[in-house]
Amino acid sequence: MISTKKVLISIIIFNFYTFAQSGGPDGELSASLRYLSQRYTMPTAQTKGILNDIGTEELAHLEMVGAIVYQLTRDLDSKIVKESGFGDYFINHSTGVYPANSNGSPFNAFCLAVSGDPITDLNEDLAAEQKARATYDNILRLSDDPDVNDVIKFLRAREVVHYQRFGEALRLLEEDLRPKKTGVGMKDCDNK
Ligand SMILES: [Fe+2]
Repeated sequence: MISTKKVLISIIIFNFYTFAQSGGPDGELSASLRYLSQRYTMPTAQTKGILNDIGTEELAHLEMVGAIVYQLTRDLDSKIVKESGFGDYFINHSTGVYPANSNGSPFNAFCLAVSGDPITDLNEDLAAEQKARATYDNILRLSDDPDVNDVIKFLRAREVVHYQRFGEALRLLEEDLRPKKTGVGMKDCDNK
């Protein structure tokens, strides 16, 4: 028998898979689309490669999170569906894994930014990774299912590695693009 608690955890994870709890830009789907879109305007092959690598890895994480949601919800009975607050979703999708938040809003690209400015984009990416890490921490606070927790701990560790790699990309670009004298703005606008 699947417990109500497990269904609630699956809803939280499901939100993370799409929008994340706050409607903010920290789910696996938004992460992969953000990095794979921003990669084009990264000014060096190395920084393009970092965004490409992490963006494709996030797609693999999307598949893992989808598998957790599916396995937690596939055998639900109607009593659990009603008690867990899963009913509204169930009416539209049964136990299919649809990229929407728990209010039924489908995924959309409003939750990510592509500024075309590499320093701005990398700072957004650093924040996104910490929000992802914090969300996984919150899932671990609520979940007592060891099978779920093992996967969540793996995903959380990868967010920390991504944060470090974006930090490395930012340091590389800061040296190339920032004017040495002032340290603010970008070199090509400094004499205007
Ligand atoms: Fe990540």
